[in-house]
Formats: sequence, structure tokens, C-alpha cells
Amino acid sequence: MEKINVMIVDDSYETRSNIKQLLSFSRKLKVTTEAASGEEAVILAGELRPDVILMDINMPGMDGIKATEEITLNVPDSIVIIMSVQGETEYVRKAMTAGARDYLCKPFSGDELSETIINVYENEMKRREKITPLLTKDEIRSRVITIFSTKGGVGKTTIASNLAVSMARSSKKRVALVDLDLQFGDVAIMLNVSVKNTISDLVKEFGQLDSSLMEDYMVTHFSGVKVLPAPVKPEYAEYITANHVEKIISILRESYSYIIIDTSASFHETVLTSLDLSDKILIISTLDLPTIKNVKAGLDVMDTLNYPQEKIHVVLNKASEQFGIRYRDFESTLHKQIWSYVPEDSPTVVTSANKGFPFVMTRTETKVAKAIIDMGIELVRETEGGVNKKSPLRKLFG
Ligand SMILES: Nc1ncnc2c1ncn2[C@@H]1O[C@H](COP(=O)(O)OP(=O)(O)OP(=O)(O)O)[C@@H](O)[C@H]1O
Ligand SMILES: [Mg+2]
Repeated sequence: MEKINVMIVDDSYETRSNIKQLLSFSRKLKVTTEAASGEEAVILAGELRPDVILMDINMPGMDGIKATEEITLNVPDSIVIIMSVQGETEYVRKAMTAGARDYLCKPFSGDELSETIINVYENEMKRREKITPLLTKDEIRSRVITIFSTKGGVGKTTIASNLAVSMARSSKKRVALVDLDLQFGDVAIMLNVSVKNTISDLVKEFGQLDSSLMEDYMVTHFSGVKVLPAPVKPEYAEYITANHVEKIISILRESYSYIIIDTSASFHETVLTSLDLSDKILIISTLDLPTIKNVKAGLDVMDTLNYPQEKIHVVLNKASEQFGIRYRDFESTLHKQIWSYVPEDSPTVVTSANKGFPFVMTRTETKVAKAIIDMGIELVRETEGGVNKKSPLRKLFG
């Protein structure tokens, strides 16, 4: 059996030697690399792609959180496990959000350490194996569409909620909208639905979860869209795992034709699961350099994950060439065509968010509403057959 390659990242030489010592008894694990700083870890991880990285949180210079973020973006094959000391819960939470898969509290025993590494590694392998079969099941008529970006504030929630509403109207089918921005989700606010229960309450009944119990947790918006709201407090997010998300999606597939998922700007395991299980990913960008850089990095990660090209559509929000970057240049940087252009229209978008009325219902004459309605029609068409699937949407303006 091949051993699991482990890299240890800790600024203390003593800690690294202790861990090496602990792992030297394991038949399944092998320490292949050590790094004494976050920077070194990022470089070595890129070169050597260890299976598992044990990452200390507190290090001078680049800390373990930042290093985890860099590694999960650039070396998604490596799994990061955080090592913390008691009382660092806030840091641990940040590290998990940055993409760490699990954490260990120092001091830990050799058994604890090797069990955690092996468990996390085996779970991750199972998750990766599932990707392909789930995507090729043609008999599944329901479609999962995840709205994603590697940058915050680009319009994910605006697009996800308006798209869900417009698809419910144009397809006349059942549409679910899931808020997977687990810490700061605002779908419920954007759609002005009153929240009794959220995904946090739902996972408490996880053992019994089926389609009918799921319905009790879905809140009905007046458009007909059923919403599964995000937790009411950011700290509840950590109780929701990739397994939960996987089961929620599979249950929703039994009774909804379209499942639209809003996400946070990260490759947290819950978001990754949603991306894995999606039929389509709409990656949202705006036309400014920091966003383009992050979106490019996000597309590269999806490439590493072997997502087929046609699974991903690039949506340009607040589209305009008047700030110095041309659409053509954006497309050649990303090596991808823009699939949909959504214009900037603050009066419409912001007023609609403040009132809780989706603009695809109340302001259908605006270009911004038309862009999203067309997106919905195209997605329905792609599912139900018909037109050339690869054609980008018609440019609506400019
Ligand atoms: N096309 C648009 N025209 C004008 N304003 C827009 C447009 N799209 C989004 N906005 C505004 O940009 C802000 C961010 O939008 P939104 O909350 O949808 O982004 P997000 O990607 O979900 O952000 P977060 O990462 O914080 O969840 C909001 O104030 C929204 O009203
Ligand atoms: Mg959002």
C-alpha cells in the first residue's frame, strides 16, 4: 500500500521533530517534507504536492491561515489540517473557512494524530471518487446551478436570488434556492422572507432527513421559489459539513427541477461539495484587476479538479468597458468566453434589495433584469434541450 505523504509546517524545530517521531510508528503515513514558515510551506506544497499538510496556526510572517488560503487555492490536491493550541477557536474557524479540512488541538497523542490524518484523507478520497458518477447520471432531470466567485461582493447573491425567481417563472417548475454562504448569507434578507428555521436547524435532524422533512425547512417566497436560509449567526456555520451539503443536494434533487446555490467567496469544503455536485457553475466576475486575478485563480482550481469546460459559465457583472479593461482582454486572460453580461444599475438593484422585491419581477423592463431573465431562459433551454449549448448569450447592450 502506498503511504500517505505528510508535510509538517511549524516554526518550532522541536515541534516538527516531535510530530515526526509520533508519525514514525504509523504504517500508513510518511513525513516527506518539513517547512518552518508559511511562505516556505506555500512554495514546497506547490512543488511537492503532499497528500496532507499539518499546519501550525501561529507563525511569524505568513501565518497558518494565510498559508492555508494560498495552498487550497493553488494546490487543491493537498489537504490541510490545522494544529492549534487551546483557546484559538477564532483562528481555527478562520482556518476552516480558508479551506482547512480539520484541526487538531496541541498537545495530541500519536494515535489521535494518525487517526485524524487517515480519516480526513480517506473522506477526501471518497468525495473525489463521487464527482464523476454523479455528473454523468443522465437520468437525473433536476439541475444544480451554483453561483460562485473567488471574490466577495461581486453580485453572487443578487444574481442567485433573481435568477431563481426568474427561472421559477419561466420554467413553471419547482425551484429551490440554497444559501451556502454559511457565515454571512443574506438571501433571506434579499428576498425578504421571514426565517423560522435555517440550515443549522435542519442538520440537527440529519439522521431522519428526507424530502418531506426537508419541505418543513424550505421557506416559500411569493414568487414560488423555496428558500433554504443560511444560519442566523456566523458561528453556527462550522457545524455544517460537506456531508450535510451532499445529502441536502441529493434530497433536493428528488423534488426540485432546479436547485440554485448561493455561495461564499471561498473553497470551503461545503462550497467545494456544491461545486462538485453542480451541473453548471456560474462564476461571477467584475471588470477590475483584483477580481479578475482571483477569478482566474478560481478557474485554474476548477481545471485542476477536472471540471469539464462546459460546466462553467463566466458571468460578467456590472459589465462596462469604460473603466479601462476590454471584454476581449478579459476573455483572453481567462481563456474563456463571457457567457452573460449583466449591466450595472444601482438604482434598480439596490432599491430592489432594500425592499426585498426581486427586480426580475418588479422591474422587468430594465436591462439588468432582462440580462438575468435571459440567463434563466438559457439555463432552462440547456437542460430541456434545444439550441446550441455553447453559444454565449446575446449581448444586451453596448
Ligand atoms: N449589476 C449590478 N448593478 C449595481 N449594483 C449591483 C449589481 N450587482 C450587485 N450590485 C450591488 O453590489 C453589492 C454586492 O452584491 P451582492 O451582495 O449580490 O454580492 P455577493 O457577491 O453576494 O457579496 P458577498 O461576497 O458579500 O456575499 C450589493 O450592494 C448589490 O446591490
Ligand atoms: Mg452574497
